Formats: sequence, C-alpha cells, structure tokens
Amino acid sequence: MNQEELFKNVISHSKEYGFIFQSSEIYDGLSAVYDYGQLGVELKKNLRDFWWKSMVQMHANIVGIDAAIFMHPTTWKASGHVDAFNDPLIDNKDSKKRYRADVLIEDYIAKINAKADKEVEKAKAKFGESFDEVLYRQTNTRVLESINKAAQIEARFKEALEQNNLEEVRQIIIDCEIACPISGTKNWTEVRQFNLMFSTQIGSLSEDSNTIYLRPETAQGIFVNYLNVQKTGRMKIPFGIAQTGKAFRNEIVARQFIFRMREFEQMEMQFFVRPGTEMEWYHYWKDTRMKWHQALGLGENKHKFHDHLKLAHYANAACDIEFEFPFGFKELEGIHSRTDFDLKKHESFSGKKLQYFDPELNESYVPYVVETSIGLDRLFLAVMSQAYMEEKLEDGTSRVVLSIPYALAPIKAAILPLVNKDGLPEKADEIVNLLKYDFNVATEAKDAIGKRYRRNDAIGTPFCITVDYDTMENNTVTIRNRDTMTQERVAISDLWTILNRDVSVSNLLKKC
Ligand code: GAP
Repeated sequence: MNQEELFKNVISHSKEYGFIFQSSEIYDGLSAVYDYGQLGVELKKNLRDFWWKSMVQMHANIVGIDAAIFMHPTTWKASGHVDAFNDPLIDNKDSKKRYRADVLIEDYIAKINAKADKEVEKAKAKFGESFDEVLYRQTNTRVLESINKAAQIEARFKEALEQNNLEEVRQIIIDCEIACPISGTKNWTEVRQFNLMFSTQIGSLSEDSNTIYLRPETAQGIFVNYLNVQKTGRMKIPFGIAQTGKAFRNEIVARQFIFRMREFEQMEMQFFVRPGTEMEWYHYWKDTRMKWHQALGLGENKHKFHDHLKLAHYANAACDIEFEFPFGFKELEGIHSRTDFDLKKHESFSGKKLQYFDPELNESYVPYVVETSIGLDRLFLAVMSQAYMEEKLEDGTSRVVLSIPYALAPIKAAILPLVNKDGLPEKADEIVNLLKYDFNVATEAKDAIGKRYRRNDAIGTPFCITVDYDTMENNTVTIRNRDTMTQERVAISDLWTILNRDVSVSNLLKKC
C-alpha cells in the first residue's frame, strides 16, 4: 500500500466505521466541512482530554477557560485579522483551479530540498559507515546546487512576502516554471489577497445591525480575558490559559480531508511571561510540545520542526511541529512567540489597561506571550493515518487494524458472549456493568466470534473479552490483545485492574 492508497483507505475506513462523515451528505455534502460519527467523537474527545490534562492538570500555573465564539467585532480589528488575515491566491486560467501562491512556492522549494536529500541518501547507501554527511552536503556539486537554489528562492520569496509584493510572488512562480498540477500549464492570473474570516450579522436586520465574525482562532478569547483570569485566579507570571474550541476560516483551497477545514477545532494555550524572558519560554514550549507528540507513540522520525519563513504580524519567533501525513510533512501545531502585540493592541482599542503588576520587580508591564496552538482535527488525522494497517496473518488471512494508542481508543474493551444464548449475553452485561463507570466498553453478540474480533480490530479496540461456557462455571474470561492477538484467561474480578493498568491516559501523561 503506497501513501496515496493509505490516505484513500483512511478516508473510506473513517466513513465505513462511523468515525467521520461528510457534512450534510444527503444534500451532496458541504465542501471542507465534516461531521464526527459515533466512534470519531470518542477518539476526538480522548485526544482533547489528553491535551487538556497535559496542559491544565499537569501544570499548576495553567488554567482553562471556555470563551464564546462570537466576540465584539473590534477584537478582530485590534488583533489585525480584519486587515491582515489573508491568503495570497492565484488561479490557473486553463484549469480554472485556485491555489495558494505561497503553498505552490513552498512545495516547489520542498521538492528541490527532497532532491538533495535523495542524493545524500544514495551516497550514504553507497559509502556505508565511512560516510560523512556534513562534508558531503558541503562539497558535492549536485547537492550544493539544489541547496543553493532552494535557499535563493526562499530568500526571494521571504522578501516578497515581507514587502507584501504580490507581483513578485507571481514572478517567482513564473520564473520557477511552476505548472498547474491539473492543466499542466503555466498560464497564471495575478496574485490577490483574500480575507479568511466568515462574517455574519448580530441582532435583527431591521435594527441597527452589526457585522460580527466567527472567530478564526480561539486565542483572542484568551487575550481579552487574561486580566479577568489573572485577577480572579490570583495568577502569578509566568502562567498560562488554555482553551479548546471551534474556529472558522473561509479556506479557499480546502482539501486533504480533515487537514484543512472551514470549521475546525483548535487547542490553544497562551503563556504569559515577563518581557525579555519570552525566548527562553519559547524554547521550553517547543521542547515540551515535541515531547507530548512523541508520547503519543505515532512513530519515530514522524515529527519535525519547521521554522517560519515569514513571521505572522504578531510574532517575533515562530515554528511549526510538522507531522508526516500520507501526503508529506505538514503543519500539525504552531508555536509562536507573540510578544505583547495582542495585549497592547487590545489596550489601545479598548482604552483599558491590561498590565500586570509584578511583585518581584515592583513594576507593572504588559506581559509577553508564548502560544502553543494545535488543530484537533489534524491531530485526529495524524493518529488515524498512523494507526491504519492492513496485516497479512500467518494463516493466510488478512485484517485491518487501527493501532490507536490504548488510552485514546474510542472503545477500551468489547465484551463478547461466545454465543447469543444460555445466559452468556447476560453474563457479558454483568461485566459491562462492572466496568462502564470507568471505561468506555461495549458488548455485541451478533456474528461469529472471529468476525467480531476483526470488527473490533478495525475500530481500534485494545481488548476483546470473551464470555464462554467456562465463564459460567468459574467466573473467568479470555482477554484478547488487539495488537498481538494473544489470549489469556483471567478472572472477571481482575479485569478492572488490567484495564486500568493498560488503557489509562496517565500512561501517556507520564511520558510527556
Ligand atoms: N492562534 C494561532 C493560530 O491560529 P495557526 O497556525 O493559524 O495559528 C494553529 O493555526 C493550528 O490550527 C494549525 O497548526 C493547525 O493544526 C490548525 N488549523 C489551522 N487552520 C486549519 C484548518 N483550516 N483546518 C484544520 N486545522 C487548521
């Protein structure tokens, strides 16, 4: 199965087993909007809970809030979103397809870098242990050519973005001979800026109604509440405020399933620090967040940092944590040193002081902010695409298994009566009643046991607990492990302890 097939399979599997549906499917769907089904909602909730616990429960100096989606429209004037939350778009005149100009150029640069990496890999395989990669990169003409070419385009592109020079952005696309993947032609329109915010009206239209926006990020709800939380929570700097919730962006080039959606969920944390210490905290949160991703066990070398070429209007340092999705390394989380930009802007637009009195320095200041911001849907896609596996078994059959980390699995254990009679289903219900207060468990009696095992493998259930005739005699059951498929006979009275040991989210939290 190549990566393209994997991605297609993840999409169809997500639908077939009730993880993700196209929104309003009976009306042919709404582009780039998705609904989470009965299993998807559980996985999503578990991911959100893991994030929340690792941020709020595990840090004495981080608290959470849940701000409204609607905010006073001046919020978005102050934050710069009304004027600057834009994507540079370009159309191909032949295919009539629209692209983000920056993505076209970044993909082109990534391709050149990949070419250099391929050369290095080839040489590494040829020369074996004695291979000196650093020296090779510095001296091999072909590698140097690619690296220099990528760097030159990158520098030119960065300058064009900084000067908001859209003509130059277009010229880079022309000079690099970037072609439309659909038509194959280089017949491009001008590059235009397009604002990504959705707007709507508050109040009845006949009255003096106001345009308001659906929030494009959850962060501003934290900024406008920062003093409320600081004062009522008696928070001392450094401290953080965490929030999860929906955000909305009118993405023009929405594709790749739930990777880029118009309605999505963010998990953001703003960390308020003393001015001058922000770079220290920026590095702290870079390390901490990378460790968090690695604790999920989605595979080694699946994550990497990518420093931003063009800093957002509010940042003095920024990077992404990228994940290797089936369509390549792409942004999963952003870590931004946002300076005092947002709070200062809100001070000036609201006329209210947003200063913190630092008792150690005996002075007041507007704190600096380091932000961590991750898309819950992207995290979901990362987990699904890493978990989906098609396995050939020793007996010649095959199975699909979702190897989701146990703590995140939608259903932790399926309690399966071997047959649907003789009191076995009732015994299974007893076990469900024993476990359901602490674990999401399910029972099903229909179909042959092998078929039920396969179904539970396909939805990622870590354990299948089978109730058979011996159970009725001695209160023992078999417990089958999803990954090894091995079975063990255990007492019903031990099940709670076994599940608690293996599926608890504390296993993940301890690795962070
Ligand atoms: N407050 C900072 C902020 O919003 P961002 O890099 O624009 O920064 C943060 O977004 C994260 O939100 C991204 O790393 C990504 O995971 C997620 N995200 C952004 N746009 C998205 C979209 N259209 N669909 C799904 N997730 C998105």
